[in-house]
Parts: sequence; structure tokens; C-alpha cells
Amino acid sequence: MSEDLDFNLFIQRMKDKTNIDLSQYKEAQMKRRLTTLRQKHGYNTFELYWRAIEQNRSLMNEFLDRMTINVSEFWRNPNRWEVLQSRFLPEMLQRSERLKVWSAACSTGEEPYTIAMILSELGALGKASVTATDLDTVVLEKAKEGQYLERSLRDVPPAYRQKYFQPDEGMYAVSDKLKNAIQFKQQNLLHDAFDHSFDLIVCRNVMIYFTEEAKHLLYQKFAAALRPGGLLFVGSTEQIFSPSQYGFESADTFFYRRIEG
Ligand SMILES: C[S@@+](CC[C@H](N)C(=O)[O-])C[C@H]1O[C@@H](n2cnc3c(N)ncnc32)[C@H](O)[C@@H]1O
Repeated sequence: MSEDLDFNLFIQRMKDKTNIDLSQYKEAQMKRRLTTLRQKHGYNTFELYWRAIEQNRSLMNEFLDRMTINVSEFWRNPNRWEVLQSRFLPEMLQRSERLKVWSAACSTGEEPYTIAMILSELGALGKASVTATDLDTVVLEKAKEGQYLERSLRDVPPAYRQKYFQPDEGMYAVSDKLKNAIQFKQQNLLHDAFDHSFDLIVCRNVMIYFTEEAKHLLYQKFAAALRPGGLLFVGSTEQIFSPSQYGFESADTFFYRRIEG
């Protein structure tokens, strides 16, 4: 069997079993990452690797863990969060009584907890629903646990660290106030239906892995999931080219607003 056929069969089988469509991720990057993983376990072909994955849940979990990178941080790119805190969220709170917020591809939870801290500081945590989703159930469990190493708190402002974290045997535990404010759910951005009427969708550092076609569809789905005037906040290498084709206008660097009317 040729190498391409071997890899394409693996993609097809994974899609049939899990609904994860690897063909919607950038191919060279994905192939490199999965080849390294397969070779680490000593399988010479994807056919053999697939058979092993089918019989071993921990290999499947490892695959899910590695197919994209799960790295996250609190306040990743701090000055963008400052803009959200000082400008966009206060504007939204003036316009509506309740806010509906979604952290999409939230990994281990640093991003939705950052959102919850900011909402809490604005006195708006009780007026907001915050949903956080990821494809990978292992990272979601870690997110729900809310225990972090000191280094991932690097950019948390000291006063917030004091207020929202409890040191716990070398780790930092997120306060229950923040934990109780977030609903964590498993969801595949490339396959599952989206909820709607969001005021804010934060989706950062996952679209870089997707093909242009997949991104194109995703921007359409995000636009439809936002209420008119709602904002999409993307990662720092994820600018949308010609946002108007999706009904977006640029609101600030890495923020796109769904055009009203
Ligand atoms: C690099 S992390 C981004 C974490 C966080 N948003 C941030 O910027 O710090 C990428 C996350 O995307 C998730 N992911 C990959 N493909 C996905 C998909 N199709 N649907 C939902 N989440 C996905 C991965 O499981 C991983 O947790």
C-alpha cells in the first residue's frame, strides 16, 4: 500500500469512528505530528497504528492529545484581554442585561477562567452564561478540576491571583466562584451544530490548524452563532481576510463584530 493510501485510510477510519475529520486540518503539519507519534510506538504503517488505537483507549487519548497542541495560558496576549475588559465588555453590558459567552476550543480552561475573572471584576459574572467547549474530553476534565502550575499563571495580574486562586500543594486551585460560573462541554467545531445568540465568542489558537475550506465554513458558523453586534475574538496569528464576506467588520486587532442590520 502506498504511504498516501495508508494515511488516507487512517483518516477515513478515524472519521467513521469518532467524527473527527483530519482532512480538514492542514495536511503537512498533521501528517508530521501523527507520523512522529506512530513511530514512537514502533508501528511502521498507519494501518498497524490504527489497529492498535482501536484496541487501546490510552492510545486513542494520546492521539487526541497530540493531533493539535493543547497548550494554553491565562491572559494569553494580555493587551487584547485589556481591550476586552476596558472597552468591549462594558459596552456590551450597557446594551444588554445578560451576556452569553462561548470559549470555543478552550483546552485546559485557562481561557474561560480568564473570561470569568474579567466578568467578575466588572461585577457581571452573575449576569453572564459562560460555555467552554473542546473536542478533547481529557483536557475538559483538567479544565473542570481547575488546578494549575504556577507558570501558567504568569500573566495573571497579582491582585487577581490573590483573589481567584488558592495555593494547593505546589499547584494553584481556581476559586469555586469561577468554576461554578462555567459550563464545560465536549464539542467538535468542525462537525457539531452551534448554539446561537452569543454576545461574545472567543476562539483562539485552533483555527491555525484548519484548512482554508474548514476555516471558511467555521467563520460562517461563528457569524450565524453571534447576535448582530456580537464579537468574535481570535488568536494573534488568525486574522480573517475580507471579514465582510462573512458579515463581519473589524472592531479592533483580533476582534470582529457581526455587522448589524
Ligand atoms: C492550542 S489549544 C488553544 C487553547 C486556547 N483557546 C488558547 O488559545 O489558549 C487548541 C485546542 O483546540 C482543540 N481542538 C482541536 N480540534 C478541535 C475541533 N475540531 N473542535 C474543537 N476543539 C478542537 C484541541 O483539543 C486543543 O485543546
